[in-house]
Amino acid sequence: AGVKGTFSERTFIAIKPDGVQRGLVGKVISRFEERGYKLVGLKALAPSKELAEKHYDDLKARPFFAGLVNYMTSGTPVIAMVWEGKDVIKQGRAMIGATNPLESAPGTIRGQYCISVGRNIIHGSDSFESAEKEIGLWFGKAGELVEWTPANVDWI
Ligand code: TYD
Repeated sequence: AGVKGTFSERTFIAIKPDGVQRGLVGKVISRFEERGYKLVGLKALAPSKELAEKHYDDLKARPFFAGLVNYMTSGTPVIAMVWEGKDVIKQGRAMIGATNPLESAPGTIRGQYCISVGRNIIHGSDSFESAEKEIGLWFGKAGELVEWTPANVDWI
């Protein structure tokens, strides 16, 4: 996940199947772009059950786990992304809002676009360790992430 606390910090952000079905991909990407974060990885994929289970490994004992995995593996793609920039892990979570959209502040992504915890449209890594794990899981192959320098870097 890059180097914690520097401009190279990276987080894993995914638009879940409901966000894709509802046509919110562009809006989510715009928010991160407009904030000044840099997109270094992007792909659409319908995750396997194995990938969804590994991604949510820490929740496997929870009663909603099976439903969560079914939702993630509905067949509708997930848009998997890696965003880079200063404090992006914590700021990404703040931009997304609380897990339960009814507790997400207005103006956050979940607070603006959804009302159901089981259909909360987006995922974001919650720590440096999760970001490392999730980026490795979703972007396993070498060459899938791109290093680049934005021309406007001095202005952000
Ligand atoms: P979690 O990792 O706790 O939240 P977040 O996505 O904000 O990091 O939970 C993962 C997903 O599991 C969450 O986005 C939606 C789903 N979920 C439920 O369906 N019901 C619940 O009660 C909770 C806590 C989560």
